[in-house]
Amino acid sequence: QVSSISSILKGTPESGQKVRVQGWIRTRRDSKAGLSFLAVHDGSCFDPIQVVVESSIEHYESQVLKLTTGCSVDIEGELKPSEGKGQSVEILASRLEVVGWVDDPETYPMSPKRHTFEYLREHAHLRPRTNVSGAVARVRNCLAHAIHRFFYEREFLYVHTPLITASDCEGAGELFRVSTLDMQNLPRNDKGAVDYSKDFFGEETFLTVSGQLNVESYCQSMSRVYTFGPTFRAENSNTSRHLAEFWMVEPEIAFADLSDCADLAEEMLKYVFKAVLEERADDMAFFAQRVDKEAISRLESIINASFVRVDYTDAIRILEECGEKFEFPVSWGIDMASEHERYLAEKHFKKPVIVMNYPKDIKAFYMRQNDDGKTVAAMDILAPGIGEIVGGSQREERLDRLDQRMDEMDIPKEHLDWYRDLRRYGTVPHGGFGLGFDRLVTYVTGMANIRDVIPFPRTPKNVAF
Ligand code: 4AD
Ligand code: MG
Repeated sequence: QVSSISSILKGTPESGQKVRVQGWIRTRRDSKAGLSFLAVHDGSCFDPIQVVVESSIEHYESQVLKLTTGCSVDIEGELKPSEGKGQSVEILASRLEVVGWVDDPETYPMSPKRHTFEYLREHAHLRPRTNVSGAVARVRNCLAHAIHRFFYEREFLYVHTPLITASDCEGAGELFRVSTLDMQNLPRNDKGAVDYSKDFFGEETFLTVSGQLNVESYCQSMSRVYTFGPTFRAENSNTSRHLAEFWMVEPEIAFADLSDCADLAEEMLKYVFKAVLEERADDMAFFAQRVDKEAISRLESIINASFVRVDYTDAIRILEECGEKFEFPVSWGIDMASEHERYLAEKHFKKPVIVMNYPKDIKAFYMRQNDDGKTVAAMDILAPGIGEIVGGSQREERLDRLDQRMDEMDIPKEHLDWYRDLRRYGTVPHGGFGLGFDRLVTYVTGMANIRDVIPFPRTPKNVAF
């Protein structure tokens, strides 16, 4: 029976209890008294467990004294109270088997010293062995579970939306094209080069930028639904908050207006922040200590207060009157740049802010038009340190208004007739939002770059792993 290190450290183990653990060596230290102290981790919690090995154990000199960082081990022993700081128990080993050696410890890329994040990205397959990537992975997992739990508890239906699609939901033209290739019989152009432009069985298709349009169809009969999956944007932006492949959470609720969507987003964020503070206290303590000293206090203060809500028009006025020198000029109608969003969240409100009712000309075709003729019922949630973390809206449920918007914006109707059907048969006011999951993980951990919170980041020129 193998125990996880987390279950040993979390439980109230009895002294003398026999345990078996399997994991990897983080460090080894030998005392003059003929004892070795191994820090062994298995990914189940932040802390490694201390294993004490006496020189009387089999293969002490030939194996134990040769263990280096990264070696994998299978250990049996008994628990005893730890005399060292921090930990309550340690394992006194009675058997130690080396499962895998590290070929050349001198060149092992994950030596226990501190590495830069750039360096770790170049070793994306090995970085989960580090403290920081392990902590990120557990927090990410906890957030994903909390999101599913949040919706499940509220009777939302989890809908699996397709990744291959013919339409561009956001209309931003940032699509990856999907082609079929017959590897045995590659299509070639007259110069003999492979022709990658061949369609998906005769139709032009893309990787989805959002599951929203599909999830809306389920919303129009199942009432409360969400999708949570990968989405793709072929934007050539090299920033610390953009990925070409990222995960998005998209709930959609029927019989709802914009303020219902904002309420749902606020409730969901508070729920998952609470979950991560309770369930990953160990990792969050590490982030607060080593990455961002406000990592914990920031979430605590959000859980205990209401989000600010401000109209786009008022937000623009704040920016115009704040006296800050912006690179991009501010006036009503602009699509706010990151510097504007961050000013509002970081300097003006100093907490997440929900901006509502944006000019229709900078927003997608499906957003519900407000009566003023100029704005749509859209909302973005802006977070300090990141900017936009959530984007959502009430949807246009009136067919004539939707058609008029599609015409004005040159959205081809032939691929979206099914979407228009939803307005023909029993239409209801509805809306939802998209939460950028990787931006959420960035925000929660305080990590500076989104590439360090997703296992294998996909950005321009970054597909090695
Ligand atoms: O604002 P966006 O484009 O909204 C939609 O796609 C809607 N269809 C969502 C909906 O209403 N169901 O994207 C939603 C969120 C953004 O707020 C941002 O957090 C994240 O997705 N996002 C990205 N995250 C990482 N890298 C990128 N390139 C991102 N683009 C958007
Ligand atoms: Mg957006």
